[in-house]
Amino acid sequence: MTSVVKVAVAGCGTVGAALLDLLERHGEALRQRRGVRYQVTRVLVRDADRPRAVSVDRALFTDRVDHFLETPADIVVEAIGGTTAARAVAHGTLVRGRRLVTANKALLRIEGPALDALARAHRAAGATLDFEAAVGGGVPVVRLLRESLAGHGLHRIRGVLNGTTNYILSRVEQGVPFADALAAAQRAGFAEADPTRDLDGTDAADKIAVLAWLGFGVDPAALRVRATGIDASLALEARAAARRGRAVRLVATAVRIGDGVHATVAPRVVPRGHPFAQVRDEQNLIQLESESAGTLTVAGAGAGGSATASAVLADILRHGATNAAS
Ligand SMILES: NC(=O)c1ccc[n+]([C@@H]2O[C@H](COP(=O)([O-])OP(=O)(O)OC[C@H]3O[C@@H](n4cnc5c(N)ncnc54)[C@H](OP(=O)(O)O)[C@@H]3O)[C@@H](O)[C@H]2O)c1
Repeated sequence: MTSVVKVAVAGCGTVGAALLDLLERHGEALRQRRGVRYQVTRVLVRDADRPRAVSVDRALFTDRVDHFLETPADIVVEAIGGTTAARAVAHGTLVRGRRLVTANKALLRIEGPALDALARAHRAAGATLDFEAAVGGGVPVVRLLRESLAGHGLHRIRGVLNGTTNYILSRVEQGVPFADALAAAQRAGFAEADPTRDLDGTDAADKIAVLAWLGFGVDPAALRVRATGIDASLALEARAAARRGRAVRLVATAVRIGDGVHATVAPRVVPRGHPFAQVRDEQNLIQLESESAGTLTVAGAGAGGSATASAVLADILRHGATNAAS
């Protein structure tokens, strides 16, 4: 017997469209393997009339958050970004006792703990909060911190967390002009809607704050992250460093110091053999250093529709078909 799980998707941009595509392409395999049909019940966008390159019934598109939230759904995916409409979607989902899957680190930074508390408060009704795609794209670092490393005495988290800047740095070191590398990252869907958040280090700061929340229990909104980004002049330095056999990478760090946590985002020059230097293009790499488990390194595709959507899909599949109706 096949159960039906209703999925409402907020956002049909790089991530949302890739997710709809994954659900379409793997729908039959998921039905056969898991006995579940994931049925898309609504798609929230800014412009519901714009033609879309996804095979979803046009009648399912809406540009009204209230309309979106009124639609029956077991799982709501938030992939619109920003913090205004996304916040309304997140709260409206959890208070209705639905499962929320979000890719939105900016929202989690300002109110991850509040959303977590809301999910707990409505757990009996079915609410859950999952956000693997929010940090590291397709790299399962959120799950590692939330589950596997709890109680391991974590003391430092370090990583290359921003796919756009890493893409630019690894292209400029090969001689590609900064502006061309940025344009290529945008075309490939690695960049945020506003690339300033990538370039000035804000996106990496949001991500390291979310990881510090998970790893050290600090309030991500209250954590001050000293952030320096990259620009065209740093790109010239990256090129010069490459000629000297070194690489420049934008590295985010959170270290536990006494009762506090010190967090930074800054460009670092590393030798060619260093793990960070090996991280190319939109790849991410994260090192988790703990007393009992030593250093754990995870790496993979950190941005882009398909890698990010696969992390969203993993969250969708995570709790099985507990809410499913036959
Ligand atoms: N791109 C990546 O590689 C990546 C990786 C990891 C995480 N993320 C996160 O995933 C989220 C989505 O990113 P994205 O790159 O997919 O963004 P995007 O390409 O800009 O798409 C955003 C989508 O949300 C819709 N939208 C935006 N504001 C809205 C509003 N106020 N009301 C209704 N719909 C709205 C847009 O509608 P229209 O289509 O009508 O404009 C669009 O379909 C963000 O939180 C981002 O940080 C992205």
